[in-house]
Amino acid sequence: MKIFDPIEIKGMRLKNRIGMPPFLNMPGAEGNFIDDLTIRWFEVRAKGGAGLLMTGTVMPVAPPPQARSLLGFRGVGIYDDKFIPGFAKLAKALHAHGGKLGVQIGMGGPMGGTGPSLPPYPDERHATDELFFVMMGVRTPVREISVEEIELIENAIAQAAARAKAAGADCVELHCAHGGATLHCSFISPYYNRREDKYGGSWENRLRFPVETIKKMREAVGKDFPILVRLSADHRTGSRGVTIEDTCKIIVPTLEKAGVDCIDVSQGDMIRAGEGITIPLYYPRGCFIEYSAAVKQVTKLPVIGVGRIVEIDMANRFIEEGKADIIYMGRQLTSDPETPKKYLEGRKDEIRTCIGCLGGCGRPCSINYDIQDDPVPFAPAKKAKKVLVIGGGVGGMEAARVATLRGHKVTIMEKDSQLGGMVAALARTKLTAEFGNFVDYLSTQMRKLKVDARVCKEATAADVAELKPDVVIVATGSSMVVPDIAKGKPGVMHHIEALKRKHEIGQRVVIWGLVAAELAISLAEEGKDVTMIGRGGEETLARDYTTLRRFYVLRKLTDINVPRETPEAARVCNPRVLYFVDVEEITPAGIRIVNKDGAREVLPYDTLIISRERETNDSLFNELQGKAPEVYKIGDCSQVGDIKMAVWGANEVVRKI
Ligand SMILES: Cc1cc2nc3c(=O)[nH]c(=O)nc-3n(C[C@H](O)[C@H](O)[C@H](O)COP(=O)(O)O)c2cc1C
Repeated sequence: MKIFDPIEIKGMRLKNRIGMPPFLNMPGAEGNFIDDLTIRWFEVRAKGGAGLLMTGTVMPVAPPPQARSLLGFRGVGIYDDKFIPGFAKLAKALHAHGGKLGVQIGMGGPMGGTGPSLPPYPDERHATDELFFVMMGVRTPVREISVEEIELIENAIAQAAARAKAAGADCVELHCAHGGATLHCSFISPYYNRREDKYGGSWENRLRFPVETIKKMREAVGKDFPILVRLSADHRTGSRGVTIEDTCKIIVPTLEKAGVDCIDVSQGDMIRAGEGITIPLYYPRGCFIEYSAAVKQVTKLPVIGVGRIVEIDMANRFIEEGKADIIYMGRQLTSDPETPKKYLEGRKDEIRTCIGCLGGCGRPCSINYDIQDDPVPFAPAKKAKKVLVIGGGVGGMEAARVATLRGHKVTIMEKDSQLGGMVAALARTKLTAEFGNFVDYLSTQMRKLKVDARVCKEATAADVAELKPDVVIVATGSSMVVPDIAKGKPGVMHHIEALKRKHEIGQRVVIWGLVAAELAISLAEEGKDVTMIGRGGEETLARDYTTLRRFYVLRKLTDINVPRETPEAARVCNPRVLYFVDVEEITPAGIRIVNKDGAREVLPYDTLIISRERETNDSLFNELQGKAPEVYKIGDCSQVGDIKMAVWGANEVVRKI
């Protein structure tokens, strides 16, 4: 397979064409140093078989004091020679596994407080324009950067590149992507750059800063050291930003001439079109590969493609089709750093495929407990025990998997005819179909590990008495609370029932509760007329989602002012969302609602889906107290939560039994 063939970038020989792209949230110690945690973060992926490991953006200039509180993590620096030993240790660790180390160097742009020009930017209308503002309530004042500072930054980046080389890194990458996230990208973009000096105006002027930087980097690292550049091939802000045509016609030839050795093709603008970077889970796999394919048409340099590529087979196909020379798999090497190794060893069915939930991407990762900073270590059990897991949702299956791997003898009982619980049901919505990856993975492991899995079996205290397990893990999940006013009324289903019996959902759908936003959107996309109603305001819409996953829902359903020029980002009118609403009565004629001003409306409906609170199903857990030597509860049964809580809870209990 071509994906496993070596490739050279200016003398740097990669053992295969799989790379870990930059992730800014990599661990970094106090003072922005690399420490053992940083090394472990990269080493597991090198050990797992990736050929190229690129750091997240490292800082060529000391960060301002507010940087950490804004991003929530420290970041890694390379702004002084004191950082060289840390990088040297990292390079050595990766080389030991045949991996190559790349160091991405970049400067924050308007999103971080410095830009080519002052806001407001062209289509900005109000404060909710910015992702940071929407998600964190932070609006960073932007300062226009001076020509003197440009020169200082260019020199600092060149020195940083030299330090990376001195430390034994194999290549450096200039971060020129992601719109307002980086200074270089925002200089290229007419959207952010309205300067009238030699760094603004024409293409030549807007590209001057990256070109000068690359030339200085070249002087600093010498002619034989590979310099990569990361571009947003299309900023996805329509004609106001940079388009793929601009990239192919002007940017790539200019940067090639400036001396880069490889084009890393990313896309999007972190402020205005984040879907190119933190790609929503409902975007198709490999959705942006045509950008790198287009770049490949205009350059002979190696080209990297990226974007929701989670399968080796797809990555290989893209290479064989000439759409890229190297494939970055970011979140996939986070949910399973051993993806290449398992594939090569014929263990494809053991690969834990990313679900795209954007729940921290390694810090934490919802489905890979081990990639966290401080996991309970995995070790074989000192004494093999008989373990009964009650409930075959993802928490229960993860408990069964880990317990079996530790050497325990495990039985799992599930009352439904299939394993997977609530997550399997959620995977039936188009927008969250990727959740099914984890259900498939765990179900397969049950089979491969020969776990005694009994479906259609509702466990009782009598089963426990008969089986006499040493340990019982209760993972019986939670139930949707259906308000009394809706009980027994025609066409009423709760969220999970609705997912399981989708064929019964009628044309006019009312969803009571502001949780099931993705279900609402996907039903509307199927052609149903959907109205969501909730007691709270906009801040309660999809409140339980992870920050970025929620952002994309808000963008569809509210007035966040993001560019509307790409159809995927457009606001939709169906579903309609009604806030501050109470339900007064439900009759066959409709649902009578009243809003906070006392105005009433009757919503005719065929199906009313209840998606509000959930309550723990912990009665069996309570009943089992004292009936087995060890009884634990995990997942929703312990505390109503998300996939991460179920997976973490399972690991934290099972690794200690
Ligand atoms: C948590 C996180 C941090 C990221 N940090 C960076 C970064 O520092 N520099 C960068 O160029 N891209 C960054 N990206 C974008 C990734 O490099 C990559 O392009 C993106 O995750 C899409 O690839 P994937 O679908 O394979 O994960 C980041 C993405 C995520 C999810």
